[in-house]
Amino acid sequence: MTLKLGDTAPNFIAETTHGEIDFHKYIDGSWAILFSHPNDFTPVCTTELGAVSKFLPEFEKRGVKVLALSCNDVESHKAWTKDIESYTPDAPVTYPIISDPKRELAVKFGMLDPDEIDSTGIPLTARAVYIFGPDKKLKLSILYPATTGRNFNEVLRVIDSLQLTATHSVATPVNWNVGDRCMVVPSLSNEAATQKFPKGFETIEVPSGKQYIRLTPQPNL
Ligand code: BEZ
Repeated sequence: MTLKLGDTAPNFIAETTHGEIDFHKYIDGSWAILFSHPNDFTPVCTTELGAVSKFLPEFEKRGVKVLALSCNDVESHKAWTKDIESYTPDAPVTYPIISDPKRELAVKFGMLDPDEIDSTGIPLTARAVYIFGPDKKLKLSILYPATTGRNFNEVLRVIDSLQLTATHSVATPVNWNVGDRCMVVPSLSNEAATQKFPKGFETIEVPSGKQYIRLTPQPNL
């Protein structure tokens, strides 16, 4: 099964390093990120979990609950956590790591990487990132192969865009960061945009003469 944007997160109950978690109860009206890993005690994963621990205050600032998944058992996760905390000091791993040794959740969420097979011939879990909104619907998914570590600065950047565009009639252009100008969404007429954006908007001239590139200051600043 592949989760599509707008799909409601399938609920599950899983063993984690923080005990049993019911996913829907865990989300509980917040934004949430669920990110998966191929295996405990592997080098790239160790750097990623440490980076997420460092970024926890940033996730908290944005009201995003964090949940990791790796296809090993809880005892293994707990032992591995000591390595993660040693590799990335001053950043305790205080978020739960789901245990998924049979890859049941990885299959449910479409997270498997067919190019990375374990010693028993089963595909490992890829590096999936799923971001769910407070309505439990999928807002963004990114799937990296096991061999490429993620950029969690980019994950925070897309959360900023998702949270902004969820409540304002704007989209964010290439390489946008908080504070940059946004684009007025195409569905909004010039008249409606004038009403909606008191700071105004600039229409960029293009050879087609079509007035679809309209820039406005970030509306919530
Ligand atoms: C890693 O985390 O380093 C890794 C895991 C599985 C395959 C390749 C790399």
